[in-house]
Amino acid sequence: MLSVIETLNEIFMNSFEQAGFDRELGRVTVSNRPDLCQFQVNGAMGGAKLYRKAPLMIAQEVLANIKENDIIKDVNVVAPGFININVKDEFLQNYLNGMLTSPKCGFENKEDIKTVVIDYGGPNVAKPLHVGHLRSAVIGEALKRLNRFYGNNVIGDAHLGDWGLQMGLIIHELKQRQPNLCYFDENYEGQYPDTAPFTLKDLEEIYPTASKKSKEDEVYLEDARNTTQELQSGRIGYRALWHHIMNVSLQDLKRNYGRLDVDFDYWYGESDADQYIPAMVEKMKKDGHAYISDGALIVDVKKETDTAPIPPCIILKSNGSAIYETTDLATLVQRRQDFNPDRVIYVVDKRQDLHFERVFRCAFKTGIVDEKTTLSFVGFGTVNGSDGKPFKTRSGGTMKLSELLDTVESKVSIKDSENMSQEELKELSQIIALSAIKYGDLQNPCESNYIFDIDKFASFEGNTGPYILYTMVRIKSILSKLNLNPFEGTNPFSSFTCDAERDLALSLIKFSHILTETVKKDAPSILCQYIYEISNKFNAFYHNKKILAETNETILHSLISLITLTLNVLDTSINLLGFKAPEKM
Ligand code: ARG
Repeated sequence: MLSVIETLNEIFMNSFEQAGFDRELGRVTVSNRPDLCQFQVNGAMGGAKLYRKAPLMIAQEVLANIKENDIIKDVNVVAPGFININVKDEFLQNYLNGMLTSPKCGFENKEDIKTVVIDYGGPNVAKPLHVGHLRSAVIGEALKRLNRFYGNNVIGDAHLGDWGLQMGLIIHELKQRQPNLCYFDENYEGQYPDTAPFTLKDLEEIYPTASKKSKEDEVYLEDARNTTQELQSGRIGYRALWHHIMNVSLQDLKRNYGRLDVDFDYWYGESDADQYIPAMVEKMKKDGHAYISDGALIVDVKKETDTAPIPPCIILKSNGSAIYETTDLATLVQRRQDFNPDRVIYVVDKRQDLHFERVFRCAFKTGIVDEKTTLSFVGFGTVNGSDGKPFKTRSGGTMKLSELLDTVESKVSIKDSENMSQEELKELSQIIALSAIKYGDLQNPCESNYIFDIDKFASFEGNTGPYILYTMVRIKSILSKLNLNPFEGTNPFSSFTCDAERDLALSLIKFSHILTETVKKDAPSILCQYIYEISNKFNAFYHNKKILAETNETILHSLISLITLTLNVLDTSINLLGFKAPEKM
């Protein structure tokens, strides 16, 4: 089913072409003057220079080709050359019926299906998730669901930070504390124990302690670096400890991502790329891309067009060890071999933009990916406190993600309710909290910083997640009071009873178009804006029209169909954004 915009595009692009103009000029947009018209075409202005003709004349010539049809109610030209369009109510009603009976609210998979790897989450093993990890998880999960809905073949990968200095620090600190463990005995030939010599709680203390020591004590830092190097080159006792750290830490990571309703198809880490490094390095050397400079192996990535200096990509440090760039490049080798993606999207803090710029350039230059592959960096801004600085706990520390969730859950919790058990109330506060957090995040353009304002995010009024849920529950409650089936086989939509109803319909029919824009621009904020608009329009309609008091059955059927569709569109959208609605609240 063609979207309304696509249907109108056909008509107007054809008539631009028929009148001898470029058909691209005939693209239709939703009107930004809803008081004047529903849709508009602005191409006549663009054509004026090209064809040396007054825009008004172009628009009139185009209009002359539009024949009487079932779609357009009226169309007219307004100075200096706008084409203003209104469509027939029957056309809207037919389209609404199509949406109601379609599994994806009228959205149909496009032909340009792509294989997309989404690299998001990016947690570092053995460090608790904190507020800095929130956005990658929330945005990445939404992009994953959106792309999948769009029809793309999507692979979500957590890309764990499991291979760097933090692993060396933990192992080194353990060695200080328990030097007699078999893992440190180079002559040990037995089996290593199945259980870890530490708990999650221990790990949560060991890492920060080690990290602090390494900042104060250079020798300690050097030892930890050497430990990392030994781990990476395969020292068997260290590898065994590494597995323990991974097991203990992953369980905790999975539990926390679970609370956020975030899941990955693969929990690969930097360590999984390790085996691809030697051959990658060899090829870079053989092809003459990589050379030694000051002991390190580097690839130049600067371009003549650069306005700021771009340092070379370091492939191996002078002691031969791999770094962040190396693992990202080797991961691309792995991804190409395993998934052959058309596109890889990295959802990472925007302060890492230079890192990715260099990695991307190096990957193209050295042929790790081919020219047809798109590498996209979706860099996000910081979550700030009300002081405009990165969000902290009351005492000024970094806030753990679990703490953040607890705080918002208790903020939105309803203490007692007559018809809900404690269990149900708890689940309800989890659902509302997630909507508050995720919508509060996604409503902002990814690249912007935002202020994490719990009071605002958790409010049931205004542009918030709970407001969207509240609207949905209101619809559910109306539907449960009416026991009429909206689906009758024939088109249930009849004449609109008021302007507010048509207004709501005009927003609903945009779903397919909005979804496409959201996916094409990697911008969940577009979908947030849209569901806020739908909620406002639904509530305006609800206050205008007493649905439950309607006695005419034909009209009632039409009303029920419209609000059912409203609920479907909202439900589909919030699911794509990564949260859900309760049955009642
Ligand atoms: N673990 C990294 C960090 O904490 C983020 C990983 C992002 N993904 C990537 N492919 N580099 O900064």
